Amino acid sequence: MRALHAYARSDPSRLVVEDAPLPELGPSDVLVRVHASGVSPGELDWPTAWLHHDDTPRRPPIVPGHEVAGIVDAVGPDAAGLTVGDAVFGYIDVRRDGADAEYTAARADELAPEPVTLSHAQAAAVPLSGLTAWQALVDHGNLAPGQRVLIHGGAGGVGTFAVQLASWRGAHVVATSASRDADLVRDLGARDVIDYRTGRFEEVVSEMDLVIDTVGGETWERSWRVLRPGGRLVSIAVPRPPGRDPVEGRQAIWFVVRPDREQLMELGRLIDAGHLRPIISDVVPLARGAEVYGRAGPRGGPGRVALLVAAAGAGASAPAAARTTAVP
Ligand SMILES: NC(=O)c1ccc[n+]([C@@H]2O[C@H](COP(=O)([O-])OP(=O)(O)OC[C@H]3O[C@@H](n4cnc5c(N)ncnc54)[C@H](OP(=O)(O)O)[C@@H]3O)[C@@H](O)[C@H]2O)c1
Repeated sequence: MRALHAYARSDPSRLVVEDAPLPELGPSDVLVRVHASGVSPGELDWPTAWLHHDDTPRRPPIVPGHEVAGIVDAVGPDAAGLTVGDAVFGYIDVRRDGADAEYTAARADELAPEPVTLSHAQAAAVPLSGLTAWQALVDHGNLAPGQRVLIHGGAGGVGTFAVQLASWRGAHVVATSASRDADLVRDLGARDVIDYRTGRFEEVVSEMDLVIDTVGGETWERSWRVLRPGGRLVSIAVPRPPGRDPVEGRQAIWFVVRPDREQLMELGRLIDAGHLRPIISDVVPLARGAEVYGRAGPRGGPGRVALLVAAAGAGASAPAAARTTAVP
């Protein structure tokens, strides 16, 4: 098969598309014929992507792209709930090879039925951002209807989902973004949008129940001032905010997103019901994958970039016989 290989951490110049062996399947895995993958430009920096589960270093090359949309091609003996031919999407364990390739292996419980209203490229842009937004607002933020939430980076991959989900849950949503993205962020459900380049959010909002910080650094530091007593500051930004005692009576939470089939299924239901939509700034073929990870400077637009690996109905390069031998 063809795959995007990363040979060095944090170095997009060491990415190359080349032939690769088919992934090996564990008993609980399925083999997915990849149609599209989601691009997280910072993924080459993630320490865990370069480590095995026992924290020993993985030997390059590794395959990035841990969000997948595609078709189940083979099923391990203990992989429950999926059959060959199912259209699936999901967020794959980052400590193994990802989906910037014609085939990827994923645990069955990392995958869910692909939303029927989305293309594969759109579906590939959902899992990481959608799950992160869900876990930030619901699992860690305890967001309740009527509460006031400030979402930093409202036009970003995570922010576009967080704005929509918080609005769907009946919260009063305020977001920060660049002015060029303000109309989109309002359209997604924010009642107010603060231009982070020209305004200071702490001069506009106060007494928030929850702040979701996707930016970090001084944005995180300044966010304490806008929380009500008992409010929560939930952060996902990398690097992790510096150790600091939370302001008295306010809670600081930093977390790493985890794969979750039930939550993915709920996101899929919300998408198919028209409550949620992925925002995509670009769709690029696998052959140009290295270029996408190497992009510097201002982003092309709000939302996510997807890699198109196989056009709908197109075959992949590995023969079916070779594929099935990968299943134990
Ligand atoms: N902990 C976890 O599990 C987890 C999960 C997912 C992501 N992350 C991390 O979370 C961060 C955000 O991810 P993402 O996928 O949403 O990134 P993204 O798509 O690049 O979005 C970032 C957004 O933040 C905006 N922004 C930049 N500076 C800002 C500021 N000072 N105030 C307000 N907004 C600002 C950007 O706007 P412009 O376009 O104007 O620059 C962009 O819209 C990344 O560091 C990512 O690695 C962590």
